[in-house]
Amino acid sequence: MHTILVTGGLGFIGAHTTVALQEQGFEVIIIDNLSNTRLSVLDGITAISGKKPIFYKIDLKEKGSISQVFKAHKIAGVIHFAASKAVNESVENPLLYYQNNLTSLVNLLQVMLENDCQNIIFSSSCTVYGQADTLPINEDAPIKPAESPYGNTKQIGEEILLDTTKASVLKAIALRYFNPIGAHHSALIGELPLGVPQNLIPFVTQTAAGIRPLLSIFGADYPTIDGTAVRDYIHVVDLANAHVKAVARLLDKKQIDAFEVFNVGTGKGTSVLQVIKTFEKVNHLKLNYKIVGRRAGDITAAYADTAKANTILGWSATQSLEDALISAWKWQKKLQSSK
Ligand code: UD1
Repeated sequence: MHTILVTGGLGFIGAHTTVALQEQGFEVIIIDNLSNTRLSVLDGITAISGKKPIFYKIDLKEKGSISQVFKAHKIAGVIHFAASKAVNESVENPLLYYQNNLTSLVNLLQVMLENDCQNIIFSSSCTVYGQADTLPINEDAPIKPAESPYGNTKQIGEEILLDTTKASVLKAIALRYFNPIGAHHSALIGELPLGVPQNLIPFVTQTAAGIRPLLSIFGADYPTIDGTAVRDYIHVVDLANAHVKAVARLLDKKQIDAFEVFNVGTGKGTSVLQVIKTFEKVNHLKLNYKIVGRRAGDITAAYADTAKANTILGWSATQSLEDALISAWKWQKKLQSSK
């Protein structure tokens, strides 16, 4: 039984991936600094899987602490989620983002190589493509200049991995996520946005719950089906399963290149208005919304060509937008009731 280290394992995607790994028989060690989540997520994970992961409250900027974990355990591979991810905040405080997201990665890679751990999955983003020239977007689409320091940390993170795989025994897979949404069907884990949510789905669920009076649709003058922006919304449980496939590819030494990249999305584009209508329909409620101006930095449309993940990773999305929006609302109600 292999042991996988999951950094940021108490975050939204990290927690769902931990459960998915446990379900496939992996031992999981979590490192998290709890900067953007709660320790109670550990209980949610344990309640679903019946197995409590080993947990270390560590900040990856402290290299010595990471070393201690590698000395104490035989770690077969790492899934690296720990990073700051608020686009606006990164524009206001770029150095915080470069420090958090890049120092952590460099420290982690150095400790991995010092301890003969060769396998890493990196949490990247479709943001690296910017507004792609052709849709759906495949992995050969050019990387566009980043719109934000956050986006830049994902691009630089990929470059750090590519360079390191060339110069060492490291093997890396970057998964470029499209828009992760939803929650575990048990409603025991889900997204925990702190403060006012920036992303669409938590804003939708908080509006439905009466926490926010009004949802703003950022722009209805895009050249899309109904004028609102189009994204590829992927259920977080499907996304978690993509990580398990990627880990297996590394451990089974199936890689063709030492650094590989895969899109993780559904392949389907959905507009903001379509998301809202679907949310209302499947959850039998009405949302209070209005159309406002575009949000700075937003692109018109992005959805994935998933052929590479389908054929090479043997992964594809199985859950629908409806499934994801039902689970997101169930999770929001659970959050309310546990207050
Ligand atoms: C954003 C980030 C992306 C990051 C991802 C996950 C930008 C430009 N991109 O993606 O880098 O990886 O979050 O954190 O910020 N919307 C509304 N009203 C709202 C909120 C959102 O209309 O209150 C719209 C947005 O304009 C967008 C769509 O909903 O068209 C999705 O927005 P969001 O969930 O923030 O994701 P992205 O912007 O695609």
